[in-house]
Amino acid sequence: MKRRILLLSALAMLGMATMPTYAQSKIVVKIAGMKPDGEPETVGMKLFAKYVMEATKGKYDVQVFPNSQLGKEDAYIAQTRKGIIQMCATGTQTGSIFPAMAMLEAPMLYDNLEHAHRAMNGETFKLINQGFSEKSGLTTLNAFPLGFRHFYTKKPIKNVSDLKGLRMRVPNIPLYIEFAKNLGQSGQPMPFAEVPSALDQGTIDGGDSPFSDIVALKMYEIAPNITLSGHLLVIHSLYINNDFYNKLPPEDKKIFEDAAKRSAEDVWKMAADAEKKAIEEIKKGGGTIAEPSAEMKAALVKAGQDTWQLFYKTVPNAKEILESVKQYK
Ligand code: G3P
Repeated sequence: MKRRILLLSALAMLGMATMPTYAQSKIVVKIAGMKPDGEPETVGMKLFAKYVMEATKGKYDVQVFPNSQLGKEDAYIAQTRKGIIQMCATGTQTGSIFPAMAMLEAPMLYDNLEHAHRAMNGETFKLINQGFSEKSGLTTLNAFPLGFRHFYTKKPIKNVSDLKGLRMRVPNIPLYIEFAKNLGQSGQPMPFAEVPSALDQGTIDGGDSPFSDIVALKMYEIAPNITLSGHLLVIHSLYINNDFYNKLPPEDKKIFEDAAKRSAEDVWKMAADAEKKAIEEIKKGGGTIAEPSAEMKAALVKAGQDTWQLFYKTVPNAKEILESVKQYK
């Protein structure tokens, strides 16, 4: 009898040792991003991490790797799809997996930030994402606004003709390459992290970025002419690997979803204010801010809306998605 009790206790101890002990060992969640510290994408990732860790009382150790620390965007998206890391933040690079994702950044679509905010919290976001998860192995948890893109160039831009032939950096995304082509520019595709050295080396004449990027990388020091084209709102999202996500206990899954939504709302609130501060910083740093002429505004609308042809060719419900935006005006 005594021997049997000893055996049972030994088995019980062995069993305990092999059971997951969440209280003692934290579950590590790695999130990669491309933007430097202080930018909306990084702020959003860090807030998400904080909210998850607080709500789960430290069950998860959510580690944030901004500024392409885990590789450039294409590399870390692939790592997330393979489950090497659990999450990432990126933009419409995911359009190369599923073309509708590029529509998150359809040019000349929104009247202002509030309009986009309502669409991203509503039907438009859902329609764009329909089918993405099955195709990519990733789930899109939210939408962070990074700001409207504006041109930064070495030479001032006064008229549409000044844009012609300019070597402008573009993300390696068909939509961006098409937009540059429509304006007569020579689009130079390259990853975000390579832009400052390309400007330094003179291989590009400028590019287009939201104020958050223009300020963080001090683009205005080399390309001081900022033209307020505002042609496209940059939306980056938190993506999570489906295998990891679907294995989360339901209460934790809800915490991840709530944290993603809450962090996105925080970033939407910061967006308008951030633009005003950025303009002051650019001016202080020697940059100039110019309003585009009426002629240029018309050319931007045309070039932007002409890119929608790409969506009609590659996204079966493109028309429905574009139409859905109207209800949020
Ligand atoms: O969302 C994709 C695109 O906005 C990324 O642009 O300039 O950050 O590479 P960028």
